[in-house]
Amino acid sequence: MMQPRHFISLLDLSSTEFRTLIGRASELKHNRNPDFQPLKGQVLAMIFEKSSTRTRISFETGMTHFGGSALFLSSRDTQLGRGEPLEDSARVISSMVDGIMLRTFAHESVTTFAKYSSVPVINGLTELLHPCQLLADMQAYFEHRGDIEGKTVTWIGDGNNMCHSYINAARVLDFRLNIACPVGYLPNQAIVDAAGDRVNFFSSAEQASIHSDLIVTDVWASMGQEEEQKKREISFKEFQVNATVMNVANNDALFMHCLPAHRGEEVTADVIDGSQSVVFDAAENRLHAQKALLELLLS
Ligand code: CP
Ligand code: NVA
Repeated sequence: MMQPRHFISLLDLSSTEFRTLIGRASELKHNRNPDFQPLKGQVLAMIFEKSSTRTRISFETGMTHFGGSALFLSSRDTQLGRGEPLEDSARVISSMVDGIMLRTFAHESVTTFAKYSSVPVINGLTELLHPCQLLADMQAYFEHRGDIEGKTVTWIGDGNNMCHSYINAARVLDFRLNIACPVGYLPNQAIVDAAGDRVNFFSSAEQASIHSDLIVTDVWASMGQEEEQKKREISFKEFQVNATVMNVANNDALFMHCLPAHRGEEVTADVIDGSQSVVFDAAENRLHAQKALLELLLS
């Protein structure tokens, strides 16, 4: 059996492929042709262990635009939730559908699924990575400011799945990434090491934001960490994106957040609802960027 092409990490794309995908996403966004149905009759299975608004709606709508359909499968309602092995589930599900998107807790669940799937597997977020969001964020950056190569991006907050995907994006698209995280919440060391001099660490959010072209943050407690919320509010207090942080960045700096956001925690309302914020453009781009991805993997 020939191994299908998966999208587990941004490192699965070359820098040319990433840029081509962004261009294609913008094309699909601005010239939508309802007769263009490259995935007619194809089915994408979407397996969710966690909640989702954007990921579910964008993949489902994208498949419909392309003439196919998507199946929403909560792991609670399938045999996966009752302990059927991932290996068996991957073999069975992939024998019936044309692509599989998964949102899981453990990253290994997605890599195991990919190993046993006969069709492309897409990572719709794991505890380690969230590559689909980066396709959309980078599309938004390119649309507002042009190519991100050589620019400076600042990550403030938790060294989480989004932070890891920004580190990978810095490698593939060749930008500098400044990171400011509280002690104890640094990103995965292997992912950092692999990025070499693309990544620099700062102890304060303000220091990290000087001369930055894009400021990014995310919630302090991710899905599955809800019980740590109170403890994290204390540790992350100084790692908020607010007007002081935006003021030391470049005048034309953009602000991004994958959403959902907690106003007054990781970002103040004046920043996320202000003129430098492109969070809703990036959210909409989930649809367009993933259509470009589905086209690349499935058609
Ligand atoms: N940003 C993002 O992935 O949103 P959802 O959790 O709503 O899918
Ligand atoms: N870091 C967040 C992203 C949500 C889209 C989480 O994993 O919950």
